[in-house]
Amino acid sequence: MPTDTPAPSDLKRGREVVLTLEAFADRGKSLARVGEGDGGFVVFVAGAVPGDRVRARVFKRKRGFAEARLLEVLEASDLRTTPRCEYAATCGGCKWQHVEYPAQLAMKGEQAVSALTRARLDLGAADVRPPLGAEDRDGSGGLFFYRNKMEFSFSAMRWLTDWEIATGEAMDTEFALGLHVPGRFDKVLDLKACYLQSEWSARLVNGVRAFAKEHGWTPKHPREHTGYLRILAVRQSAHTEDRMVNLVTSHHDEGRMAAFADFLRAEFPEATTLVNTINSGVAQTAFGEAVHTVFGSGLIRDSIGPHTFEIASNAFFQTNTVAAEKLYAVAREFANLQPDDVVYDLYCGAGTISLFVADAVKKVVGVELVEEAVANARASAEANGVENCTFVAGDMLELFKPDLIEEHGRPDVLIVDPPRAGMHPKVVGQIAHLRPERIVYVSCNPQTQARDLAMLQEAAAYTIEAVQPVDMFPHTHHVESVVGLRLT
Ligand SMILES: C[S@@+](CC[C@H](N)C(=O)[O-])C[C@H]1O[C@@H](n2cnc3c(N)ncnc32)[C@H](O)[C@@H]1O
Repeated sequence: MPTDTPAPSDLKRGREVVLTLEAFADRGKSLARVGEGDGGFVVFVAGAVPGDRVRARVFKRKRGFAEARLLEVLEASDLRTTPRCEYAATCGGCKWQHVEYPAQLAMKGEQAVSALTRARLDLGAADVRPPLGAEDRDGSGGLFFYRNKMEFSFSAMRWLTDWEIATGEAMDTEFALGLHVPGRFDKVLDLKACYLQSEWSARLVNGVRAFAKEHGWTPKHPREHTGYLRILAVRQSAHTEDRMVNLVTSHHDEGRMAAFADFLRAEFPEATTLVNTINSGVAQTAFGEAVHTVFGSGLIRDSIGPHTFEIASNAFFQTNTVAAEKLYAVAREFANLQPDDVVYDLYCGAGTISLFVADAVKKVVGVELVEEAVANARASAEANGVENCTFVAGDMLELFKPDLIEEHGRPDVLIVDPPRAGMHPKVVGQIAHLRPERIVYVSCNPQTQARDLAMLQEAAAYTIEAVQPVDMFPHTHHVESVVGLRLT
């Protein structure tokens, strides 16, 4: 057994060490400090929890830190819990299933706030709220089955778990349908169970795998870029009976799709629509160059608050419908909406925030890149009888310019909800130039949110009035953060 008090010089690649973890770190890892002085030498361990004493093997050594792979938990932290899912220790879907939920939540709150303080943003006047937790929907105390959308990957390179190897059974390693192993774009776990979406979707994964194998359909080879099957995307509405199956393939094959449609109708009749997205490119995404609706409407409908939305296969929709309502309620509160306000909902997706705030203001202008999402937003506004929302399709970088403001009016309030990468610096510059009285920044990435807000503060003085972290994704280290600002 290696020593309990390793020195920084022990942290060589391939060396086994015993570490006591003391804090959570980025990307769901935990950290230990080795040696004296200046905070010690930091070692990151994925799968470990603060308070654990573990045996681990160093696999990366850099000038300022090392990374070690968890081999054995020698003494378990009080923050540990038993994961529900047998794949939890290996799967990229839930990196924190082994962490007690209150500890997950506390860490998410800390991460959202520390990103802001590390960017030197002044929170002195801010109402910094404790993180809002997710709801326990299945009564098991485990906060599962909260996602309305899952994308399961096909791969010709299957990753075997330790316990799959230990069975000694011969396994087909050239076909996998499931989720990626963390850090591996190529290797996919062949999931027989998953507790993130629904029992139905897990059953669908098993049914589709069996069907595909029986028919000799090949999965994508991630290195050779061959194979027919790429992604099985499943959208299941939280509030209606709608269920969309989106089979992403490398090319269109009408005969195969007809057979697949017959299979679904027979074995999974709850599927209300089947679409076939064609992605012949190299990137493993559910976006493609064409979408064929095989049966049904090609849409699902789901509700947030009083409104029901149409959602196309490639339109963004918050993946946790129940938590989305809480998130939007926070955004609405932080916007302090007034009846005469002109609100811009930037990066508006299918117009969900726009409709959620529309009744409190004079008008809302939504801007969104994906045309289908804008079409969904317009259709949903009409179907819900909301008449004061206008949606504009295009790239924020191109559109968010004086012409747009001249056409639709100066914003009193901006609600921005960009993708993980945050906003383009020119967009931040344009916001600073416009100087709206109130800004609400909703983000799924506190790092880029903090970066953008620091950039904004350099150009225009805003006071951060309130911060609300919201947990939309239990058992992952991801957190949503809402920040409310007012022109100083
Ligand atoms: C995090 S989602 C938020 C959507 C919406 N606010 C919601 O709550 O459902 C970000 C949205 O930004 C859109 N988007 C990404 N890049 C964009 C760009 N350059 N211009 C406009 N919209 C963009 C994406 O298509 C996506 O719908």
